[in-house]
Amino acid sequence: MKPAEFATLKIDDKEIELPVITGTEGEKGLDIGMLRKQTGYVTIDPGFMNTAACYSKITFVDGERGILRYRGIPVEELVDKHLFIEVAYLLVHGSLPNEEEKVEFSKLLNRNSLVHEDMRHFFDHFPRGAHPMHILSTMINALAAFYPNVDLLSMKEDIELSTARLISMVRTMAAMAYKKSIGEPVVYPRQDLSYCANFLNMMFDSPVVPYKIAPEAVRILNILLILHADHEQNCSTTTVRTIGSAQVNLYATISAGMSALSGPLHGGANQEVVEMLGYIERTGNVEKFMQKVKDKNNPARLMGFGHRVYKTFDPRAVIIKKECHDFLRKMKIKDPLLDVAMQLEKIALSDDYFISRHLYPNVDFYSGIVYRALGIPENMFTVMFALARLPGWIAHWKEMIGMNTKIVRPRQIYVGKRCKTKL
Ligand code: SDX
Repeated sequence: MKPAEFATLKIDDKEIELPVITGTEGEKGLDIGMLRKQTGYVTIDPGFMNTAACYSKITFVDGERGILRYRGIPVEELVDKHLFIEVAYLLVHGSLPNEEEKVEFSKLLNRNSLVHEDMRHFFDHFPRGAHPMHILSTMINALAAFYPNVDLLSMKEDIELSTARLISMVRTMAAMAYKKSIGEPVVYPRQDLSYCANFLNMMFDSPVVPYKIAPEAVRILNILLILHADHEQNCSTTTVRTIGSAQVNLYATISAGMSALSGPLHGGANQEVVEMLGYIERTGNVEKFMQKVKDKNNPARLMGFGHRVYKTFDPRAVIIKKECHDFLRKMKIKDPLLDVAMQLEKIALSDDYFISRHLYPNVDFYSGIVYRALGIPENMFTVMFALARLPGWIAHWKEMIGMNTKIVRPRQIYVGKRCKTKL
């Protein structure tokens, strides 16, 4: 990036010029790559609230204007016109697939949709109540043992294959984990079904109660997966880029991203939201709950609200809220938690505590209600987020290794004990 302008920094008796970097959408950054060499100083920014960790061409988020674009295309357009598999291709390859590329990608996903039979038996040894996120991150890590193209060179050459394995096989693993948890026989993927229809069929079909795949269910699942597919340098994507910078194979890197996503402040929030809505619905006291959320001494948070980047409506929440209402109406489903969610949103959006802190519904606030309507159990909600985020993580890993990124190793400011000896 060639800087067109510079900022002047005066430190001690020095005056240095910091290159100013301007992004595609006009966002500005100070390149401090030479700061320590020129001044001996480092910058400190816990949580990276003000720090850009990399250059990226994948996703753009404007938190002030509520904009989200994948490879320059607004998500509103992608959910209207495309399927999740096409958006996964867009994120990983940089452009939407043409008809031929779409057929080839679908064939590759189909060929890689079966879990290795020896891996299948792993599921028999997890405790019945194990959280599917822990099962999945373990199974993904195990892929490196079953598919030994794990050194970076072979991974680079086989990115197509590794991408297909992760996007397709992990979907099968997720459904397997669910079937195992309810003691039902595993349902295999079918080559005649689309990505989303296959997932729903693997989750809910049974030898004695055949599952009827509703087109509305396939449609809304595509929309949810597209909306969760990428989101710049969020916690789990930063984890993927950090782990990947040590030239760890893609499977272990993605497994680490899964673990980061499972946190309740990150992807785990969708499950927390539904548990929170259920609690409020049972106790019937919204006002009392909101008082707790606003009490500085109370750790309670309005889950599904607030965001590090969005300081207005999360555009994904706007779409999911509308689609949620339409889907429940079409499927003639009445979910009292939707009424509670609407009540909470109404109260929060007129309460100065939330307005002054720019706290709005985020992607997790309504998504769990849609998953419930699809019949997906709460402990699988974050798994749905992870299935969607796989192409985003893979795209960032691919971009990072393509840039020959240095190993991620931040500096620190030491504030511990002074050394008593003169070493
Ligand atoms: C995702 O980064 C991404 O892009 C993530 C994601 C993605 O697609 O990858 O968008 C997915 O993770 C969405 C976020 C899901 N998490 C939740 O819904 C959990 C609830 N939200 C919060 O915990 C919080 O809003 C975060 C974690 C999302 C953001 O936290 P920040 O940016 O660190 O903000 P903060 O904790 O410093 O809060 C600022 C103020 C504080 O109050 P004050 O100290 O100024 O008085 O806002 C308050 C916080 O107490 N606050 C909340 C709140 N979120 C922030 N108060 C009540 N309820 C909340 N949800």
